[in-house]
Amino acid sequence: MTSKEIRKDFPIFNDNKISYLDSAATSQKPKCVIDEVKKYYEEVNSNPHRGTYSLSMEATNRYEEARQKVADFIGCDDSSLIIFSKNATESLNLVANSYGLDNVNEDDEIVISIMEHHSNLVPWQNVARIKKAKLNYLYINDKYEITEDEIKSKITSNTKIVAITYVSNVLGVIVDVKEIIDYAHSQGAVVVLDASQSISHMKLDVKQLDADFVIFSGHKMFSPMGVGVLYGKRQLLNKMRPFLMGGDMIEYVYEQDATFAKLPNKFEAGTQNVGAVIGLGKAVDYMQQLGYETISNIEKELMDYMVMKLSNLDFITMYLPADISKHTSVLSFNIKGIHPHDVSSILDSFNVCIRAGNHCAQPLLRHLGLDSTCRASISIYNTKEDIDKLAEALQATYDKFKKYLK
Ligand code: ALA
Repeated sequence: MTSKEIRKDFPIFNDNKISYLDSAATSQKPKCVIDEVKKYYEEVNSNPHRGTYSLSMEATNRYEEARQKVADFIGCDDSSLIIFSKNATESLNLVANSYGLDNVNEDDEIVISIMEHHSNLVPWQNVARIKKAKLNYLYINDKYEITEDEIKSKITSNTKIVAITYVSNVLGVIVDVKEIIDYAHSQGAVVVLDASQSISHMKLDVKQLDADFVIFSGHKMFSPMGVGVLYGKRQLLNKMRPFLMGGDMIEYVYEQDATFAKLPNKFEAGTQNVGAVIGLGKAVDYMQQLGYETISNIEKELMDYMVMKLSNLDFITMYLPADISKHTSVLSFNIKGIHPHDVSSILDSFNVCIRAGNHCAQPLLRHLGLDSTCRASISIYNTKEDIDKLAEALQATYDKFKKYLK
C-alpha cells in the first residue's frame, strides 16, 4: 500500500485541498471508523452493562469486543486489564490519583523526563506537592538523548514512580523506554509509560516492555475523540482505589459505604463514550490490516523527505536528535525572527495545517531555550506533495517577512 492509496480511505481529503501536517495533535479518521460509529448509533445505541434486553446486550457485546481488540493489539492477554477513559490525560490522572497518592510518601521520589507533555507532568507535580515527595527530571543532552548516566543518577532506591513518554510530542525523539523500565524495576519503582505519540507509529507490546501502566488516546490512532486507554498490571489495578465514583463501578452501595466492581468496571464510572470505544475497535482493525511495517515504511520515507526539503531552506532551524534512527513522525522547526504563530497562520492561507506554540510541553521548551516552535507531524495518509506544499509555503512566508528581518 502507498500513502496515496491510503489517503483515499480518509473522507476529509476527498477534495484534496488541505495538507494536514498536525496528526500529532489528532489523526484524521478513515471512512470505516466513521461508518462503524454511525452504524452503532443507527442500529445498536443503548447503554451497555445496564439493560437485560437484547439491544443493550448487543451494545455490551460490541463494547467488550472493542476492549478485546485493544488488548490483542498491545499484546495483553487479559482484556479486563484494559480500562477505557475519556482521553490519555484522564488515564494519567487516574494513575496519579489512584496509585500515586497511595504509594508515594514524604521524601519519596517521582522521576519523569523533561520531554513530558503537561498531562504526564502536572498530575505528578500534584502528587509530589500533596505527599511532600520530590519530583526529579531525566534531562536530555544536546543530542536529545537521556544518557545511561542520567538514568542511573536520577532513578534511585527512593524512586517510587517513573513516568516517561515513549515519543516526544515536540521533538519526535523515540525514548529507549525498555532500558528505563528495566532499570526502574531494579530500583523497585513502578513505571508509567505514555504511549500517546507512539501508538499510531510503532508497535506496542506490553508484555515485552513490562511497563506497569501504559496509556494512550484513541484519537491519535484514527479513532473518534473521547476515548483513552489505560493498561495496568493486575496486581496494581486490583489494589488501587477507584478514581471516579458513580454508576456501574460498584458492587453494593449502602447508605454510608460501598464496595466496588471487579476490573475493569471499577475504573469505568458512569456512561462511557460507547460510540468512540466501538470506533476505536474499528481503528485497531484498520491499523492491523495495514500492519506496522507498512506504516513505518511509509512514514520513514515521508519523514526523510521532509527533513531533506526543510534542510534546503537555509532560513529554517530544525530541532532533530543526533541519532536520526531514534526519531519519528514529528518535526519541530523555526524561522529565525518570525513567531511560530505567524508562520502557522500564513501556512494556513496555503491550506497547510501545522501546530505552533509550546505543544503543552513548557518545561521542555524552556530547557531547549525556546519559547515555541512550529511543528509538522505526519501520518500514513500524507504524501510528498503535502511536504512540497509545506516547503513552498515556508519559502513564501520567509519572502514576505525577510525585509523586516535583521
Ligand atoms: N497532545 C497533542 C499534541 O501534542 C494535542 O498536539
